[in-house]
Amino acid sequence: MQQVQAVVAKAQGAPVELVTINVPDPGPGEAVVQVQACGVCHTDLHYREGGINDEFPFLLGHEAAGVVEAVGEGVTEVAPGDFVVLNWRAVCGECRACKRGDLQYCFNTHNATQKMTLEDGTELSPALGIGAFAEKTLVAAGQCTKVDPEARPAAVGLLGCGVMAGIGAAINTGQVGRGQSIAVIGCGGVGVAAVAGAALAGASPIIAVDIDPQKLEAARRLGATHTVDSSQADVVEEVKRICAETYEGAEGADVVVEAVGRPETWKQAFYARDLAGTVVLVGVPTPDMVVPDLPLIDVFGRGGSLKSSWYGDCLPSRDFPMLVDLYRQGRLDLDAFVTEEIGIGDVEAAFEKMHGGNVLRSVVVL
Ligand code: APR
Ligand code: ZN
Ligand code: ZN
Repeated sequence: MQQVQAVVAKAQGAPVELVTINVPDPGPGEAVVQVQACGVCHTDLHYREGGINDEFPFLLGHEAAGVVEAVGEGVTEVAPGDFVVLNWRAVCGECRACKRGDLQYCFNTHNATQKMTLEDGTELSPALGIGAFAEKTLVAAGQCTKVDPEARPAAVGLLGCGVMAGIGAAINTGQVGRGQSIAVIGCGGVGVAAVAGAALAGASPIIAVDIDPQKLEAARRLGATHTVDSSQADVVEEVKRICAETYEGAEGADVVVEAVGRPETWKQAFYARDLAGTVVLVGVPTPDMVVPDLPLIDVFGRGGSLKSSWYGDCLPSRDFPMLVDLYRQGRLDLDAFVTEEIGIGDVEAAFEKMHGGNVLRSVVVL
């Protein structure tokens, strides 16, 4: 067991605290990782606000990269010294999804078996089974994905959650590619990542939609060919017009990614897609949200598919090393997502900044 500094949310709505926690030595199938960087994600804030569950205290942080310090018995996939990005999809290999070959839908993903605790022994609930606003964290070995050790931790750690969700929404779930158009509604960290993913895949046009002009600027830097300020213009009309300029007769985009998580914007996505197109919902709605007044005939008549995307339907072992290599080759600008590097004591301040317009990600660097 060792003691390290970590960011904990002790009670609903209360400011997070930097406290000492106990990290057990890794048991069978586990690894202790020395965290080098961890991004501040909306999900951390949702935990703090009690929006995920009531299992306080939470050990926050889950978009992280670091170096494996020690592994437990039977661990073969990683070894001490390996540079890894942490993931929350350590597939089990045994559930129905895994057995039929759909590992990205695994129903029984692995986390560490032992618990990290406060100094008094109170068990911590690590955010998304990771808990990486900490000098060191205990995870399941399968949550560690080895990547190129030359990569910048603050940038590649973001692949552990939001950036992977966005890129994957476009290329895994939406399957967008060359010769296809895409619109992305909502250009925060997730939406802008979908734009970057679409650019990697060769899609054109790539239409970024947001109500905040600063976010549209960021989307342009990451590959958007067109932008629509939906506080000013009719999204559906604009997407149709732009797509028809490239593809005669197009009635919308082949793929529309919704990265806000609201019924209004999902409905815009629904009507902004072309006939037989695909809508991908990657924004996370709250349980009370419903889509009112959607004529079923429009669902039927337009054909195509309405999908949701959990974690960008990623397989960490397949996708993380590949995306890190593209980053190292200068083809995927992960540095653009790192708005600022902050200290481990600055997480609460970073939560405040999320409401402002100009932060894609604040990243804690250790
Ligand atoms: N139309 C278009 N864009 C909107 C609208 C709207 N009506 N309302 C908000 N937005 C934009 C915001 O301006 C912001 O740029 O959506 C973006 C949301 O981005 P962030 O708040 O930074 O969130 P992000 O981290 O990108 O996550 C987006 O995905 O994983 C989920 O829980 C996450 O639901 C959230 C979504
Ligand atoms: Zn499984
Ligand atoms: Zn996240």
